[in-house]
Amino acid sequence: MKRVLSGIQPSGELHLGNYLGAINHWVQMQHTTDAFFCIVDLHAITVPKSPGELGRDSLKLSQMLMAAGLDPEVCTIFVQSHLHEHAECAWLMECTVSFGELSRMTQFKDKSEQHDFISAGLFTYPALQAADILLYDADEVPVGDDQRQHIELTRDIAERFNSRYGDTFVLPVAVINNTGARVMDLQHPHKKMSKSLESPRGTVGLLDTPAIITKKIKAAVTDSETEVRYDVETKPGVSNLLSILGAATQNDPAELAVRYEDYGTLKVDTAEAVIEMLRPLQARFAELEADPAETMRLLRIGADKARGVASATLARAKQNIGLLSP
Ligand code: TYM
Repeated sequence: MKRVLSGIQPSGELHLGNYLGAINHWVQMQHTTDAFFCIVDLHAITVPKSPGELGRDSLKLSQMLMAAGLDPEVCTIFVQSHLHEHAECAWLMECTVSFGELSRMTQFKDKSEQHDFISAGLFTYPALQAADILLYDADEVPVGDDQRQHIELTRDIAERFNSRYGDTFVLPVAVINNTGARVMDLQHPHKKMSKSLESPRGTVGLLDTPAIITKKIKAAVTDSETEVRYDVETKPGVSNLLSILGAATQNDPAELAVRYEDYGTLKVDTAEAVIEMLRPLQARFAELEADPAETMRLLRIGADKARGVASATLARAKQNIGLLSP
């Protein structure tokens, strides 16, 4: 069975991009692979966080993942900081990646423009991400399109480590599904939908009520034409709606386009499809939210399973480097 690992940050509310780009693919993959899903709280503190917020967000994110259909009996769900192996292995990665490589990461460039205080951790973020992946000997990393560069760098790091110290890490590949890989902001369809608070009207939260979802989708920016056509370059707003509708209903966006004659009907159908897709997730989330102790119990089991794999890989890496064992 293929080994799969992916991660998600506990920062703010999950949105449609996270769901269509990543989580719904994870739900399918858990049955056919040996899958690990990590709530990457150490990545979340690369930008300032208020202490109370972080734990709450991690717990809520675990419940959201389970509500979306990740089953802790089928796959492994765990919190990154529950294992010391991730931070420890990240140091080995930092000593294997170059300053130049990290400087070329577009996510760093984007994020460093959004904050006054740019932590060293924000810069070395991809080294920690490489540790997350390589510790699990992951063959595949299912992500949205925005993570492609980080996974390519992870491969480069693994290759360099293996050539310096001998065969240690499995080289992972990014698995990026066509449907939902790049969900764009409804108000700014040239920018990806993201958790940043800058554009709340452009971001559909997974816990948004049907009324709010309808309002946001109806207000989505389109263009001054009237023809429904799937063309990401010249019609980004309309194409984004078609992509969302396509991902929510398992249809091809270009094929869907021919069924519509006006933007209004497309928006109504897209809103309806999103509401129906999220309805069971929202109901299940309400149940899970009522029992945090049970979620914590499941996360402890997840951390134990993850540690079993990660500690062996870390020991192998340290041995291959030639660190004196205690
Ligand atoms: P994060 O938390 O920003 O996003 C989690 C997942 O959601 C996908 N995603 C999107 N997909 C389509 N359209 C969008 N608008 C959109 N926004 C987000 C992301 O591609 C991602 O798959 N660095 C990672 C977290 C991470 C990780 C890892 C991922 C840490 N360690 C190891 C994979 C493997 C991140 O910030 O994702």
